[in-house]
Amino acid sequence: MSITWDEETAVAAAKSVMNAVDNNVSAPEPEKLSSLFGESTARVKVDEKKIINCRADLNQLVPIKYQWAWQKYLDACANHWMPQEVNMSRDIELWKGNTMSEDERRVVKRNMGFFSTADSLVANNIVLAAYRHITNPECRQYMLRQAFEEAVHTHAYQYIIESLGLDEGEVFNMYHEVNSIHGKDAFEINLTREMLRPDFETESFKGAQTFLENLIGYYVIMEGIFFYSGFVMMLNFKRQNRLPGSGEQFEYILRDETMHMNFGIDVINQIKAENPDLWTKEVRERSTDLVREAVKLEVAYAKDTMPRGILGINAGMFEDYVQYVADRRLEKIGLTKIYGSENPFPWMSEVLDLRKEKNFFETRVTEYQVGGALSWD
Ligand SMILES: [Fe+2]
Ligand SMILES: [Fe+2]
Repeated sequence: MSITWDEETAVAAAKSVMNAVDNNVSAPEPEKLSSLFGESTARVKVDEKKIINCRADLNQLVPIKYQWAWQKYLDACANHWMPQEVNMSRDIELWKGNTMSEDERRVVKRNMGFFSTADSLVANNIVLAAYRHITNPECRQYMLRQAFEEAVHTHAYQYIIESLGLDEGEVFNMYHEVNSIHGKDAFEINLTREMLRPDFETESFKGAQTFLENLIGYYVIMEGIFFYSGFVMMLNFKRQNRLPGSGEQFEYILRDETMHMNFGIDVINQIKAENPDLWTKEVRERSTDLVREAVKLEVAYAKDTMPRGILGINAGMFEDYVQYVADRRLEKIGLTKIYGSENPFPWMSEVLDLRKEKNFFETRVTEYQVGGALSWD
């Protein structure tokens, strides 16, 4: 249940404080105000914390129960980056010169078309839906960070689009105008439709089960499957010494998205552990069917975006890749894999592994200060 603010009580308390100040008498004792901040006025005990339907005060971060959520928040903050710090001059030179084929340009434009609006859709899912129903402060702390990262990603796509001088109207409308992009987004919006409804609740069995399925649609399918063909295509340019700035932006985005997805998987598995009744045979079958459907849409997107091979990769390879990725996602939420395909792009895992070893700050224009650096003019 989400916390409700009793407006009359709040106004009365505020007036009482103001009167006390006016009359130069001391304000009411804190314990008289404490009932304003949630249903329970008791100090939070770690065992009372739950991912959904928690009754304890949600404004108290500590004691932390889900260390994995807090650690992801700390790791995400340590990975802070901004798009304008990446040097785009080589990309601009390549794009504006005569060195890129029409097929290469199509891959860039279509991926910008998908990603430029996709991250707004996922940000909406976080701030307008999922956040309301995740009743845990350490998870919410990470989700606030994630929401900001989605804004940074949309900024990054806009920055690439602007740097290359793409037609913004064309790119930002591709999700309305290009079938293979529209198909993915329409599917995703349908998967998370219920939790976006203002009257949606997770207290009933059906509500909680629907929420779990919506989270699978959002974190496993949208963030865990629908992003990955595009990541391969854009990172492949950098691997071939093409569009290194855009490739670097995508490396940072891939690192963020991997953490978003892993957070979502942890949340899903924790909800399952706390509410084992929800994880019925029907839910498991429905989720597997949705992943199967998503794979078809993602492969169609890859084929439409790359009708002919470029720079050592071709659409056929994406069938195996998307199936390989889908199998891994299924297994991570405790479902049986369905494809058994090999990964045709083993270098993708190297990109992720390398990131851990590389000193992130080495290639940066600006280094972030950790505290004490603000000056006020
Ligand atoms: Fe994102
Ligand atoms: Fe994300």
